[in-house]
Parts: sequence; structure tokens; C-alpha cells
Amino acid sequence: MTLRLDGRVAVVTGAGAGLGREHALLLARQGAKIVVNDLGGSTDGRGGDSAAADKVVAEIKAAGGDAAPNYDSVTSPDGAKNIVDTALEAFGRIDILVNNAGILRDKSFAKVEMDDFKAVFDVHYWGSVYCTKAAWGPMTEQKYGRVIFTTSVAGTAGNFGQANYGSAKAAVLGLMNVLAIEGRKNNIYANAISPGALTRMTSGLGMDESFMEKLNPAFVSPAVAWLASERCEVTGGIFTAAGGGFGRLHYFETFGVQFDTSAPITVEMFDDAFPKINDFSTAVPAPAGTEGRMQERFDSLKR
Ligand code: NAI
Repeated sequence: MTLRLDGRVAVVTGAGAGLGREHALLLARQGAKIVVNDLGGSTDGRGGDSAAADKVVAEIKAAGGDAAPNYDSVTSPDGAKNIVDTALEAFGRIDILVNNAGILRDKSFAKVEMDDFKAVFDVHYWGSVYCTKAAWGPMTEQKYGRVIFTTSVAGTAGNFGQANYGSAKAAVLGLMNVLAIEGRKNNIYANAISPGALTRMTSGLGMDESFMEKLNPAFVSPAVAWLASERCEVTGGIFTAAGGGFGRLHYFETFGVQFDTSAPITVEMFDDAFPKINDFSTAVPAPAGTEGRMQERFDSLKR
């Protein structure tokens, strides 16, 4: 099991800037051939320019790596197919997909327009669906794949003004959970990173700039390169990565209660049991593909 990526082909979406660029540069240094996808638009997803992808391709080549550009938007099935076809045509396969492309249209829920909601879902959620769907066939055929999704603390914990972005980032985790189950038998692993970094997306958001400068996007990419390697045997994981710190995030469930179902269950019973239902000192992780404590309660009902 190696951390090297020689012979592997990786597609990184939104790799013309920020985190995606760093992921692409590191994956290339690890030996992978890279498709640098980027439509080169603005942070809010408007416009387009091939220069962003071209520049990163040139950087990879200058460092002795191999890369091909793609300028399609991830927001349509055809665009996603072109992105994956770029890998197949240039390098003959696709082993790694990093769903990284992203935009922001922040506004409080009271003020957000539905067009801004949909635009954010189109890139983060549907872009991840379309690109992964396009890569799934080749990965299934070759019985190998590493898919890395990009979520956010806005999706795992919420953030003011980001109802569109936070819910799209949470939806990406729902997709990952299912693909972790469906992909396992074909050696396709699906994981997510929840990054933090100073990029054009986060500069100008009113965060403390002197602190944000410590969050070099290059500090995030080692997690991506590890998840992209054969060495990674985790699937369905969410890994936090920011400022040189790394962790793993998971759903937990409290021990809770199981009432006798031969009698009616009342709201007062729920109220009485609430301290136990809410007691996180008894919580355990709910492993991917199981119902965790709920499964144990189901089992007790079957007995
Ligand atoms: P960025 O704005 O620097 O880079 C995003 C790239 O995606 C840009 O080059 C852009 O042109 C490209 N892109 C946007 N829409 C696209 C589309 N439809 N098709 C192809 N490419 C497209 O932003 P950053 O910070 O590097 O973000 C990368 C990912 O990390 C995003 O998914 C973002 O939501 C996520 N993220 C970033 C955090 C941070 O602290 N920077 C925190 C949490 C998540």
C-alpha cells in the first residue's frame, strides 16, 4: 500500500485557484497525472476564463509532472462527462476524483433569492453528482477509485448567511455516505474533507486577515493526497483540515431509550426520558452504513 500516486490519473475540479490548485500540485508531485478543471469564473460563479486552468497545468509541467486542462463547468452532465473524458483521452483512465469546485452567494435566508440558492446547489451538489456519476463507470470497471468530496463547517455545523451553501455542503455528505456503501465492493472509496484556508473565497468575508494568513491552502492538500492513495482504506469519512491541523468528524448517537411498544408511547414519556435521550456522555459513533444505536434498539424489538 503506497502513498505514491505513480500511474494514477486524477481529476481535480476547480483546480485553477485556491485549494484545488494546491491539491492538483501535490497530487502531481506524488506522481499522478492531473486533469486541471476550471471554468475560471468569479467567486460568485459568473464569467469564465481558460487562463486559470492553463496556468496550473503549466506549473505542474514546469515541476516535471503531467497535466491536461479542462474548462467545462461541473454544472451539467455533459460538462462533467467532458471533464472525465479529458482524463480518459489524455491519460487512458481515471483513478481519483476531487470534487472541489465551488462558489458562494451568501445572504441571510430572509434575503436570499432562489436563483442564488440554485446556483450554489448547481456547483457544489449537482457538480459533485455529475462528475462522480461520469467517473463511476470507469472506476467500477477497473475496480479502483478514490472520490474526495469537499464539505464545509457551514454544512456540518451551520453558518449565518449560508443556507444555500451549508445545505449544499451537507447534501454532498449524504451523497458520500451512500457512495461509500455502494462503492466498497469495487474498491471505490468515498471520503470528504472539511477545509479551512485563505483563498479568494474566504478573503474579504470580514474574517481576521492576520489569522487567516496562517491558513495556507497547501496545508489542506496532504489529507486529500492521502485519501487519494491506495493507503487509504477508510470510506465514508469526513476529515477536517485547516492551518496544519487535522481531525475526523463523525455523527454520534446517545444511548437513548427504548420504550415497551406494547403500550401507547406518550409525549410525557419522551419528556421524562429527555435527559437520557440527550445524554452525550453515552454517545457512540454511528458507523457508515449502519443505524448505530437505533440498530441496537431495532434488534431489541426483534427479540
Ligand atoms: P476558490 O474560489 O479559490 O476556488 C474555487 C475554484 O472553483 C475557482 O477556481 C473557480 O473558478 C472554480 N469553479 C467555480 N465554479 C466552477 C464550475 N462550475 N466548474 C468548474 N470550476 C468551477 O475557493 P476555495 O476556497 O479554493 O474553495 C475550494 C472548495 O473548498 C470549495 O468547494 C469550497 O466551498 C470549499 N471550502 C473552502 C473553504 C475555505 O476556507 N477556503 C472552507 C470550506 C470549504
